Amino acid sequence: MEIDKTTFIASLSGPAAVDSMNPEAKADAIEDFMMKRLNTEKFGLALKGLNEPGIALDASGRYPTVAEIEAQIETRSHRRGVGNLFLSHTGNVNILPKMPARPTLADYFKHRFTFTGNHVLQSANLAKKNGLSEEIILACLLHDTVQELIKVDHGWWSAQLYEPYVSEKVAFAIRYHQALRFYEDKAYGYEYPEIYRMFFGEDYKPEPYIEAAYQMVRNHKWYFETRMVTVNDLYSFEPGVNPQLEEFTDIIGRHFKQPKEGLGFDNSPVAHMWRSIATPDRPL
Ligand SMILES: [Fe+2]
Ligand SMILES: [Fe+2]
Repeated sequence: MEIDKTTFIASLSGPAAVDSMNPEAKADAIEDFMMKRLNTEKFGLALKGLNEPGIALDASGRYPTVAEIEAQIETRSHRRGVGNLFLSHTGNVNILPKMPARPTLADYFKHRFTFTGNHVLQSANLAKKNGLSEEIILACLLHDTVQELIKVDHGWWSAQLYEPYVSEKVAFAIRYHQALRFYEDKAYGYEYPEIYRMFFGEDYKPEPYIEAAYQMVRNHKWYFETRMVTVNDLYSFEPGVNPQLEEFTDIIGRHFKQPKEGLGFDNSPVAHMWRSIATPDRPL
């Protein structure tokens, strides 16, 4: 996907705002931006309408200061890390389709992963084309879906959501793709994304917990699997490419332990997370 630098920076309130963000927030912002773009093309939404309320250049084209950006926090009715299901950038939220009594992963894809679905399907599709293992393909398929619930630290949240149902290796790759994005490995075809350098300069350093995670993962036996999620993640924002979940039914069947009670009702330690995705309108 071609990214228009000006539009992207403006969507974040300009260079000063970008400078004020920590590297993890910047990476999330890029991913978020690309996802919005992808969904814009898919659903025909106006990009302008997807920008966050309270963020705009002033009349003179001056960008906000760090303090102004911080001041904007209190102008919003939501926090920026909130999940896609919990707010609308274009108006009011809509009534969600009812979930079956025993929802499967496919039901969640169909009825709840509407914002992240196409991106992760493209990612899995690419991993499949690249001849990667079924576990890597599954990790790609699931890696960002938790962003429907919450976006901050999404690698960790996502791994937790899936841990009871996938192998340790798959959960590991999902968890740490978030950290590996910042670190290149040319041997595996992953260069530090040009887009990060272009928009945010050369001197950005990931936060210590991200650096520590990377240092651990790079010497880990599952480094390859985790790295492959980032490799197939980066290039999976192509408009007009719409792989279907059915292409992955066999892989899901072999590597995803679908609970017979349904996701959200199996009394697992993460059942409440699934229920929160299924019924985000419950008041308490
Ligand atoms: Fe991600
Ligand atoms: Fe992703």
